[in-house]
Amino acid sequence: VDARTTAALVAWFARARRAMPWRPSVGWARDPYAALVSEAMLQQTQVSRVMDYFPRFMARFPDVRALAAADEPAVLAQWAGLGYYRRARHLHAAAKAIVERFDARVPYDPADLRTLPGIGRYTAGAMASIVFDRPEPAVDGNVVRVLLRLHGKDLDPAAKPTLDWTWARAGELVRAASAAGEGHASAWNEGLMDLGATICLPAPAQPRCEACPLKDLCIARRENTAARIPRPKAAARVKKLYAAVLLITDRQGRLLFERRGDQGLWAGLNQPPTLESPEPPSDEALQTFARVKGGTLPLHACGTFEHALTHRRLSVTVYRCAAAPCRGKHRTGQWHARETAATLGLSSMHRRALEIEPSGG
Ligand code: ADE
Repeated sequence: VDARTTAALVAWFARARRAMPWRPSVGWARDPYAALVSEAMLQQTQVSRVMDYFPRFMARFPDVRALAAADEPAVLAQWAGLGYYRRARHLHAAAKAIVERFDARVPYDPADLRTLPGIGRYTAGAMASIVFDRPEPAVDGNVVRVLLRLHGKDLDPAAKPTLDWTWARAGELVRAASAAGEGHASAWNEGLMDLGATICLPAPAQPRCEACPLKDLCIARRENTAARIPRPKAAARVKKLYAAVLLITDRQGRLLFERRGDQGLWAGLNQPPTLESPEPPSDEALQTFARVKGGTLPLHACGTFEHALTHRRLSVTVYRCAAAPCRGKHRTGQWHARETAATLGLSSMHRRALEIEPSGG
């Protein structure tokens, strides 16, 4: 049965495979560095968003040596807007480690891959199988869903025993695929991903079972349970947060930016001074913040918007004010023309904040 299952999906994948800039147009041989970059970007992020970022990133850092030699702000600037910035720092550190420890060649052994920063079991398995055609499983949320449905198992998708079962089963299946010939381990694993993304859709969408290459083998389809497997996870708690973004403008019309700390939300990115708080800040707190950052009163409110992150809902208010006269450099920040702000590495939230206020201020 496993051989039939894998053969059916591999045949489907050869036909229906989605075109992506990191996928070669023929065969399965691909640049391991490009795969590393794309897998890092694809963690927690939709393929459609990665499509924009990947080619620009590759143009700027075309190989592992180029990335290893870059400085961190340049890497973050290319990542700006994609979110989960720790991925970018990890990728950068991984490139350095590959140059230092692996002579600038991306390793193919999953155990070696897992010694690299940011590479866990999933990414190691994806790299080893998709790039190097090794019979290694790579289980993410999509694969859990597909395999639970295929076997008709209504288990908690986040529970450890479910994940243990899924990894074990995925391992058996990728070995069955691999036995059928060269390229099949790769096509099976990537085919599972495409099946999960285009056919075996997660709730609230309905799975498109009629179009599925595994429909005759799928227990959930036979039992008509595909739409309720996997059972919903407990909703993640979403924290409410307030952010006041301060656009401090100097005499030349430049804005003040500063770099965020190395920890927490948007670590290492640049931003106009931003006050974050669990409650709306008082006027007094805002004014003190503005003065500390080198602004003068009064503050003008320019607008408010809601911005959603995975675990936070932000209510953002944008203020502007004039800079206090000061000679020379700013103590903590840097002045930049609004037009060059895009090159600094800003979060999506701060990009939106800058759009609120038309230039000229
Ligand atoms: N998500 C993560 N890696 C992927 C890949 N190689 N193809 C499609 N979706 C993915």
